[in-house]
Amino acid sequence: METDKRKGVVLFSEYNRGEGIKKAIAQSREDILFEIRESKLKGRGGAGFPTATKWMMVAAANSEEKYIICNADEGEPGTFKDRVLLLEYPQLVFDGMVIAGYVIGAKKGIIYLRGEYEYMKKSLEDYLETMEKDNLLGKDILGKKGLNFEIEIRMGSGAYVCGEETALIESLEGNRGEARNRPPFPVTTGYLGKPTTVNNVETLASIPHIVDKGGVWFKKHGTDKSTGSKLFSVSGDCEKPGVYELPWGSKISELLDLVGAKNTKAVQVGGASGNCIPKSQFQRTLAYEDAATGGSIMIFNESRNMLHVLKNFMEFFVEESCGQCTPCRIGNVKLLEGVKMIEKKEFTFAYINQLKDLGRTMQVASKCGLGQSSPNSFISILENFKEEIFNGNGGHNGK
Ligand SMILES: Cc1cc2nc3c(=O)[nH]c(=O)nc-3n(C[C@H](O)[C@H](O)[C@H](O)COP(=O)(O)O)c2cc1C
Ligand code: SF4
Repeated sequence: METDKRKGVVLFSEYNRGEGIKKAIAQSREDILFEIRESKLKGRGGAGFPTATKWMMVAAANSEEKYIICNADEGEPGTFKDRVLLLEYPQLVFDGMVIAGYVIGAKKGIIYLRGEYEYMKKSLEDYLETMEKDNLLGKDILGKKGLNFEIEIRMGSGAYVCGEETALIESLEGNRGEARNRPPFPVTTGYLGKPTTVNNVETLASIPHIVDKGGVWFKKHGTDKSTGSKLFSVSGDCEKPGVYELPWGSKISELLDLVGAKNTKAVQVGGASGNCIPKSQFQRTLAYEDAATGGSIMIFNESRNMLHVLKNFMEFFVEESCGQCTPCRIGNVKLLEGVKMIEKKEFTFAYINQLKDLGRTMQVASKCGLGQSSPNSFISILENFKEEIFNGNGGHNGK
């Protein structure tokens, strides 16, 4: 299962299984937290929350029972980098979980695995067994008295919203996957009401490298605000789709060259819930402070119809909205209706502008990240491709 065929500056750089755990348990929890804070690692699941801060809050929580959850739901359209990490670099993800367990004082880790990844469950369980045999999991890990940690794999069932951390926790507890009100946050009141850290696969996979090579080494890569590297899942119109590791701060144009993209007209950065970047902005950088992304990069060439692309995204959100709050439940339906009106050339610009305002309202009024981000593609595609959508292809009847 392990392979070293991929090359990259951080995640795909050399790492020996167990090395991070060995180094971690030789240090105090505070020292490791210091190192992670020094690295300025931010969560790779999309929101970019500083990992050290989250772990400090769980470490500080007063409870005998704490949990570490690895978010492997990977439901954002166009994302498949966590699959590669789990299949080819399980040593990074699992060592990262054990280190997290040590630092925050949790005895149990759970991987919430995307329903469609059922096929890899057995091989992951086999891998966990080898870790137990080598005393990297289980009781008194690597001889450290009282350091006990186990990992369980639990399956998701294919709902996009279950990637949202509180809906994920609801789902793990056997309830309908719906976002919770926050506060309280999972760091104090998470799985089974206990302090919990939910982290993306890639975030956890970065930890052993940071412990092994240091926070300063990590932040040498990337930019000041976006340290380290990022895995990009590249799909669409290019010669070499796949998973690429690049330092944060790389330009969109550099990534396009790397993957052999020709005649590119648009790049959807951050999946269906991200923003659509036109050619005039390909010099922008992939970074939290510029074009932020959890890793999904979809490339569209000149042959693509951007209204069709947008319709596809909005159909996805209408389907995936959990329906709990009105801005998202009704808003996404209204935005999709708007797309269909444009398609039939039965719209007014005044109404389309009202829909954009509705989208902006959804961004602030929706209960969870799904409804807060679903209008992004509606707004960015209609604004960045208005020539094509409203004037191209033989004109329109809009007023
Ligand atoms: C609708 C929705 C889906 C999400 N899906 C995922 C996912 O598949 N994987 C993930 O790591 N985070 C996902 N997130 C973000 C999580 O809520 C959470 O921020 C993340 O797991 C925290 O990990 P990090 O701090 O390591 O990034 C999703 C958020 C929303 C709103
Ligand atoms: S924003 Fe959407 S997915 Fe999130 S709680 Fe509201 S209806 Fe559900």
